[in-house]
Amino acid sequence: MARLPFETPNPFFRVAGDGRLLYVNPAGSAAFARWSFRPGEAAPPFLRAFAQESFLGNFPRHEELEDNGRCFFFTFVPVRQSGYVNVYARDITQQKLAERERRESRADLEAKNAELERLQEESHAELERRVRERTAELTAANEALRLAMAERLKAEERLHRFQAELAHVGRLKIMGEMATGLAHELNQPLTAILMQAELACRKLDLGCQLGAEELKKTWQAIADQAYRSGQIIRRMRDFVRKSEPVQAPLDFGELVDEVLSLLRSDLRHQGIRVSLDLASPLPKIVADKIQVQQVLLNLVRNAIEAMGQTPPEVRALGIRATQRDRLLEISLSDTGCGIPPDEADRLFSAFHSTKAAGMGLGLAICRSIVEGHGGSIWAAPNGERGTVFTLTLPTVR
Ligand SMILES: Nc1ncnc2c1ncn2[C@@H]1O[C@H](COP(=O)(O)OP(=O)(O)OP(=O)(O)O)[C@@H](O)[C@H]1O
Ligand SMILES: [Mg+2]
Repeated sequence: MARLPFETPNPFFRVAGDGRLLYVNPAGSAAFARWSFRPGEAAPPFLRAFAQESFLGNFPRHEELEDNGRCFFFTFVPVRQSGYVNVYARDITQQKLAERERRESRADLEAKNAELERLQEESHAELERRVRERTAELTAANEALRLAMAERLKAEERLHRFQAELAHVGRLKIMGEMATGLAHELNQPLTAILMQAELACRKLDLGCQLGAEELKKTWQAIADQAYRSGQIIRRMRDFVRKSEPVQAPLDFGELVDEVLSLLRSDLRHQGIRVSLDLASPLPKIVADKIQVQQVLLNLVRNAIEAMGQTPPEVRALGIRATQRDRLLEISLSDTGCGIPPDEADRLFSAFHSTKAAGMGLGLAICRSIVEGHGGSIWAAPNGERGTVFTLTLPTVR
């Protein structure tokens, strides 16, 4: 039920159409104690102005008023037939405060959001800057690495070429040094050919009739010896040829035979007994034929040279080969002068030689070839007398 004006806790006023105050309720007097209310006289200016406007226009209107820290919402309702305007006021201070707080907190939230966005943008820009910096650093490091790798590849290539050259020079040198022995070796079949041919000629001169069987034997003997000298020349030519290394499966037994055939004359001349001990079956090795021959030749020649002062009856060269996992272990033993312990370290260094005419390259070349094949080489005393050189080479899988 609607309350009467004097009961309501909200201020209520009644202002006549000419602006006189007709009535103010207790709540109105209390709320606007600063205003002077004199019923029958002119209403306070705020009430008078809007009440008259509303009365004349005959339309209700709403106004807000801030007074003494409080806020009121006024509704002016004209009652024309009675000649006055009813004015209802409502204290909306709390509502206004709440609105202001809402506005302020929204503004605060917006400011914070804006700050957050700014920080995000800043950190994004900072992140991008760092990524750019790091990318530039990495690109530079990459380029440096690429250049270093290219340089290293070039250096490796140069080293590889140099090693190949050195090995080739080493082979030419070996051949030069073996020339006398090889000439002697070649001389044998040639002498045999000469003798066979001369014998046949002399028989013919003496008027002997040579039967087909005898002639065939003579020609066969000549052909065998010619084949033998051809073999020696072919091996020499293969050995000194300058060729790119080719790794292929090789029969180690055949390899040793060929090397010994080139050195046979020297070995015989020095009265050196050769013993072979090759495990059977022996797996093939994967290596470059010429290079492995060069290693064996260097080692056998060193052994021959080391046995120069050994009494003839104990001069012996032993060649053994056994399989060790995926490697073939090859050892060459001699009964030579042996290696003093303080020389063991320098043995494989280039230009280390104890010989008057030695270059000191033989073992250095051996090591570079063996290691180039993924193997290793080392030396140890051979019991009481001499040295054993052992090397490993990869076998066919
Ligand atoms: N079987 C061996 N017994 C004793 N000493 C050896 C033997 N093999 C090598 N040496 C020692 O190692 C040194 C180096 O050998 P290496 O074959 O590298 O050079 P070199 O034989 O002196 O000269 P070259 O370049 O003509 O081969 C030799 O001078 C020698 O002192
Ligand atoms: Mg040598």
